[in-house]
Formats: sequence, C-alpha cells, structure tokens
Amino acid sequence: MNIEQIKDHEHNISEKGWTVFRSLYSQEQINIANQELEEIRPVYDAVQKEQGVYQETKNAYHHTVVMSPAQLALINPNPLHDFLEHFFNGRYILNTMGTSYIEPNTGIYTQNIHRDIRSFSDQARLMVNVLIMLDDSTEENGATWMLEGSQNTGKKPDNGYFFKNAIRATGKAGDVLVFDGNIWHAAGENKTDKPRRIITPFFSKPLMKQGLDYPRAFGYDFAHRIPDQLKQILGYNALTPTTISEFYKPREKRFYKADQG
Ligand SMILES: [Fe+2]
Repeated sequence: MNIEQIKDHEHNISEKGWTVFRSLYSQEQINIANQELEEIRPVYDAVQKEQGVYQETKNAYHHTVVMSPAQLALINPNPLHDFLEHFFNGRYILNTMGTSYIEPNTGIYTQNIHRDIRSFSDQARLMVNVLIMLDDSTEENGATWMLEGSQNTGKKPDNGYFFKNAIRATGKAGDVLVFDGNIWHAAGENKTDKPRRIITPFFSKPLMKQGLDYPRAFGYDFAHRIPDQLKQILGYNALTPTTISEFYKPREKRFYKADQG
C-alpha cells in the first residue's frame, strides 16, 4: 500500500466515517478461519452457558483470536499496519478481536444502533473498528448499516432517521471495512438460509485498556516467539507494571515503552 492509497483511505474515514480495502485476504485464508470457527463455537457456547450469558451473547464470540491460530495469522503480519501507523500517527495495539455469527433469521445485539466506543472521542483518533468479511456481505444477509458523517456527532440518531439515511456496507469475503470508532452503525438482518460471519478486530492507541489482557492470555513467554510487529500489536510493549521494581526498569526493559504515546 503506497502513501497515496493510505491518504485516500484516511480521507474516506474523515469524511464518511468508513473505508473499504478490497480483497485484503485470500479465499484460502478465509476458508481456514471459517473452519476453525466451526471448531471453537461449541467451546464458546459451553462457556457462555456456564456463565449464564448465553441468551444475551449467543452468536457473538469475543476474543476468538486467542482460540484460533488462523485468526491470529490474519494480523501476523497485519496488512493494515502501514495504514494504521499513519492513521494513529504512531504505535497502535489490538483492543479486541472477536467474531460475529449471524444465523439466518436470528437476532444479535449488534443489530441495535450503536457505536463501538462507549465514550465519544470526537477528532481524537483513539480507536478504529475493522470488519473482516468471512462471507460475502449483502443487503440480504446482514451487511452493516452505517450513518455516514455520524462519527462527528456524539448524539445517537433515532431509528427512523438512521434507517432512512444509513447506507449498507456490502462486500466480498476477504474484503475489509475500517471505520471510525465514533460512527453510529447496526448489523443488518440475515434473511438468507446461510450464516453471515465477520471477524472484528478493533485497533487503538496503546494508552487504551484492552478488552482482554492479550499479553497475559497468550502468556508473557509467547512474546519471545513472535515477530516484533505482532508483539507490538498484542500489547507486549504497553504493559502495566505491578511492582515498584518492575516500574524502575531501564528504559529498554520498561513495561510501558517510551514510544507508545
Ligand atoms: Fe459495532
């Protein structure tokens, strides 16, 4: 990706609130991720039932990156890396990476109008949401509704205005949407007879707390085995020390590195 393309995407996000990168992943990568997803769904269903949250969270599988090597491979290397470093004007980390699975004619809480960042952050570039399409996304199977320009307003639009003015973000399996964390959006309904699956990594400035403590979830020793870029993305350079001696490390061994913003 060259700087002109990066600036075009940045312009789209500033103006409309979203942009799309076509064919970022191969069908083979998508197939492997889909296959692993079938394997890990029963694990999630069991945990959600055990914790008594199955009814409210079914079809939403959070932090699947921890369970699925194929999903981790989608950000190792991260094809959006140059774009994200430009957009955030420096380092960034993974805030969360989960999977949404809309079965035909079933509901999911993401179909309510919402934004993914709870606190409106206006022009401060704190977080972007990325949506990796595992299936072709169409108006029939649940393509996301997006209210262009709404990233600049903290006020939630009412249902009537939203669904009259929002556009549908359609695309092919392997396409990737990137949108401002402040934009108001909603998942569509799936009126077909096949599921519609997406992976949603959110990337943020390192100063934001991760949705799951990925360095601890993968293990601190995991950092010795992975490329520097993935180490940065998973948050190993933005740790919080827990003792005074950990805090007083020499600069290169600090838990929260000086270049993390
Ligand atoms: Fe969302």
